Amino acid sequence: MKIETSPSVRRLSLLGALSLVLGISMAHEAASAASFYFNESSRLFALHAQNVSYIFGINERGELQAMHWGGRLADSDAIPAAQADRDHSSFELSTSTTPQEYPGWGAAFYGEPALKLSFPDGNRDLVLRYVSHRVESQRLLVQLKDISRDVRVELRYEMDAESGILARSARIENHTRQALVVQQAAAAAFSLPAADDYRLYSLSGQWAGEWNLDERRLAPGMTVLESRRGSTGHQHNPWFAIAQNVSNEESGPVWFGALAWSGSWRISVEQDSTHRLRITGGYNPFDFSYRLASGEALETPVFYAGYTQGGLGEASRLMHRFQVTHILPQSPQPRLRPVLYNSWEATQFDVDAAGQTKLAEMAAKIGVERFVMDDGWFGARNNDKAGLGDWTVNPKKFPNGLKPLIDTVKSLNMDFGLWVEPEMVNPDSDLYRRHPDWVLNFSGRPRTEGRNQLVLNLARADVRNHVFKMLDDLLTRNDIAFLKWDYNRNWSEPGWSAQKLEDQQKVYVAYVDNLYWILRRLRERHPKVEIESCSGGGGRVDLGILRLTDEVWPSDNTDPYDRLSIQDGFTYAYTPAVMMAWVTDSPNWLNQRSTSLEYRFLSSMQGSLGIGANLTHWNEPDFELARRLVGEYKAIRGTVQQGRLYRLISPRKGSQHSATQSVSNNGAQAVLFAFLHSSSTGSAYPRIQLRGLEAQARYHVRSIAGKAESGTPEEASGAYWMTRGINLDLKGDFRAAALVFDRAAQAK
Ligand code: GLA
Repeated sequence: MKIETSPSVRRLSLLGALSLVLGISMAHEAASAASFYFNESSRLFALHAQNVSYIFGINERGELQAMHWGGRLADSDAIPAAQADRDHSSFELSTSTTPQEYPGWGAAFYGEPALKLSFPDGNRDLVLRYVSHRVESQRLLVQLKDISRDVRVELRYEMDAESGILARSARIENHTRQALVVQQAAAAAFSLPAADDYRLYSLSGQWAGEWNLDERRLAPGMTVLESRRGSTGHQHNPWFAIAQNVSNEESGPVWFGALAWSGSWRISVEQDSTHRLRITGGYNPFDFSYRLASGEALETPVFYAGYTQGGLGEASRLMHRFQVTHILPQSPQPRLRPVLYNSWEATQFDVDAAGQTKLAEMAAKIGVERFVMDDGWFGARNNDKAGLGDWTVNPKKFPNGLKPLIDTVKSLNMDFGLWVEPEMVNPDSDLYRRHPDWVLNFSGRPRTEGRNQLVLNLARADVRNHVFKMLDDLLTRNDIAFLKWDYNRNWSEPGWSAQKLEDQQKVYVAYVDNLYWILRRLRERHPKVEIESCSGGGGRVDLGILRLTDEVWPSDNTDPYDRLSIQDGFTYAYTPAVMMAWVTDSPNWLNQRSTSLEYRFLSSMQGSLGIGANLTHWNEPDFELARRLVGEYKAIRGTVQQGRLYRLISPRKGSQHSATQSVSNNGAQAVLFAFLHSSSTGSAYPRIQLRGLEAQARYHVRSIAGKAESGTPEEASGAYWMTRGINLDLKGDFRAAALVFDRAAQAK
């Protein structure tokens, strides 16, 4: 049964050129390549990369059964063939307890199904069995079929060689002669063995309060993370991590995953009566119904999932690297985020050519590279009551159009960005007066407004084409380098009355598919344009939208202290490479907290730096400080945005202190940020021990802001900074320090 020595082993490299080697014993695969094995005698599939192995098999009933997801096994390890559970009792039947890779709802199955169908004759029983498999474009494709009806499911597996992160999705095909209805469809189900100490981490929030890391101990029953809102949502993010008692920030097993879907989604984490876990994620089955005519297919989103022994910190770093090298549109080497200025908090809707030009001139003085004009430039948009949908430049505010402003911005060596909210319409707009039927609604029923706006039904081809053309024209006619793409409410009354009755609920899939279609086509037609995903802050951040956008706006909350926790939570799931962070005015508009400009800068410099303050209120020392810190930021942004992040001290749970450290991928630079909420009892700031340095290399330390305690050496070994550490001289309220550690050219 040894995979390595079985004479019938088929080995397919999933990296680089596809190779098929038949009938030979396997040499050990280089650690950098993902590999796939199928053992014909034990009927086991194994995917290995780096420190991760994922194994499943075909059991005696022909079901695909989960066998192992965790640390890497040796190729020589003998894994027994998959064998279904025995019935435990007449109440715990084998058909329900056996951990299946993709369970259909049928036979006696009481858990969360991956797929639930209904047929026109009333049959709702679906029992999926293995048929065949093949490898195509570095993906393992496994075909399942129902025991009697010609419904086929293709499960897709692809493992990333560098991180061991697995991409799973499914394609559901109706080969019967009649239409059927998909009532529930997951991208994947993942199984973990029985244990009593699983802890689930998830991210929850609300507008201006996103990215809270929640932690709960799992017990038998189901925990559901979801959005029923038509988009990703502020309330829960489609990400999870599961740890055990031995796990912490830096060590121990962690399984983690995220859905690439920007519509209604659900991840359920279910501990069954045998204490096994099943994590199922995909389309939210709530109000879901997708009719498949004969010959049609439905593709699910991708559910990405990984494993590490390195605790939550390493789980995050794997996700960060994977997003930078595989998900982002400019991957594997996305451009570093430019320092931007955004006018929203300075002017709100009160934008005009003179005011924006003045702000642009001031922004250029401090080294800003991109000037973004926010809401208020179009139609009758003087407040949030009117104008959305009418994307023509307001002639009173910009009598000569956008060109003079864009020309000025470009002459100041910045590029130009613009705010849009293409999926929405104010009832008080020409677009709505022309096309009242274009919004999501149920005929004859009220239309609930949020921020005085309604949601355009992008699932309609005419709406999709209109939105695409509007944006295509805007980008063709103007020299625009960047769009801030906003989305300021959730769905309500999600009717699609122009559609055939039986297809109206396809809106949940078709809307998001069309959103992706528009973004994809715009990027193809305007390859230099970058896009930010914003939804009243962090309401639409997920791996689906991140495949098509270059950065995200994590929150409308720009208070630099609140941001520490927001950014901390954000980084559990997403890379700082996309995490925009503005320096805004003090006191902060949201909570009236006052902080120094230096503190505000240091908080924002942990992500992708932007400025959103009203520069007309700044004095010369403010400009001087900003100019210096923007310059410093440019020298460290590669490390901060795309390096390895260590959350040294978490700002969560009311801690007085917090600190992060980023290490560049080549190990040559580390950047430390430390924050103090307020000192009490004269206590010293906790000693900070750095992580991820080369122990034998020497690092020279210098300060961007704040200082180390006197007596701190200017240069020491990595071992010194990691074990003896550094004491910071931080006292007072809302104080911060930033230190840079540069590796000396030669070890002394
Ligand atoms: C949303 C965004 C803000 C700003 C406003 C404009 O709230 O999150 O940054 O763009 O819309 O109306």
